[in-house]
Amino acid sequence: MIPIIMSGGTGSRLWPLSRQLNPKQFLPLAEASFSMLQATIMRLKGLDMQQPRLICNEEHRFLAAEQLRKMGMEDASIMLEPAGRNTAPAVALAAIQAQENGDDPVLLILAADHLIQDEAGFRASVNKALPQAEAGKLVAFGVVPTHPETGYGYIQRGQSAGDDAFAVQRFVEKPDSDTAREYLESGEFFWNSGMFMFRASRYLEELEKFRPDILSACRAAMTNREADMHFIRVDREAFLACPEDSIDYAVMERTADAVMVPLDVGWSDIGSWSALWDVSKKDEQGNVFKGDVMGEQTANTYVHAEHRLVATVGLEDLIIVETKDAVLVAHKDKAQDVKRIVEQLKAEK
Ligand code: GDD
Ligand code: MG
Repeated sequence: MIPIIMSGGTGSRLWPLSRQLNPKQFLPLAEASFSMLQATIMRLKGLDMQQPRLICNEEHRFLAAEQLRKMGMEDASIMLEPAGRNTAPAVALAAIQAQENGDDPVLLILAADHLIQDEAGFRASVNKALPQAEAGKLVAFGVVPTHPETGYGYIQRGQSAGDDAFAVQRFVEKPDSDTAREYLESGEFFWNSGMFMFRASRYLEELEKFRPDILSACRAAMTNREADMHFIRVDREAFLACPEDSIDYAVMERTADAVMVPLDVGWSDIGSWSALWDVSKKDEQGNVFKGDVMGEQTANTYVHAEHRLVATVGLEDLIIVETKDAVLVAHKDKAQDVKRIVEQLKAEK
């Protein structure tokens, strides 16, 4: 088994801490001493696996290499994309590489922005998934949902498919809020955790069926790649011509061979400031204060101060993030819309 860590996202909802040049997976968001990427690698310890591989944006190569080096992984392979084309192409590049010396290994596809409380439980679920993947299934890991989140994929559980594994009746990526509520109430749906396991060949076969255009662009990008120390730089022009799509829409929603293994391990996707507030330790008023912060009559508020004292009076349910060149003040219920600020900033550039 080879873990493949997808680390090319931008984390725009965590602006202004997460920036284009230093996105969230490289930041110590949930823990003080390790980045989200490093935590992703650490929780694999104890699994029977080959060295994890990384796939990220060219822009972040030194950041990624430095963080891997600190974990004693200076010889790990790092695949570089000239620009993000979302996760379906990223996984295709990794699968093509994995097959190259005639092997057909099982790949454990991981996101680099998750928090998992029960790490032993996580490894147990991975081990449950392995025989399914070896038998040719495409495994998704399902989390029991707690609210009608529209930022996740939903998996409807089908018939039992063996030891703690279920056929996937339906996979629906990011439903609207009415549908998400319906799914939650039905009790039959799980959240898609965004981690997957399958043989390289099975992913490529399914991609060929559903998105042959993505597969052929990725094959072309790999044919003319350059190796530069441990970096693998795919062909720029060929990859830029690749259509953009996520693994969820391109393959998981469509394949007839998906299986779901439940994951009950205190999983969360640290996607937004409100998600970070949710998983952080709070004071008696429900506040999370990071850095030099004073709160007076303040409740359920997240404050992150980097360069100055930040003082709040008479506030509730806010997010305040102070950095050197930008300050965010947002309502906690609108935390998803922080990405709109980033979109506007990009458009103005
Ligand atoms: N290399 C690479 N290239 N990695 C990427 C790219 C890319 O173009 N785009 C995203 N990633 C990485 C991100 O850094 C993250 O680690 C992971 O792939 C998932 O991407 P997100 O953009 O965070 O996806 P999402 O959160 O909207 O949705 C996915 O995860 C949810 C759970 O967190 C889906 O799989 C959902 O179905 C799922 O519920
Ligand atoms: Mg995510």
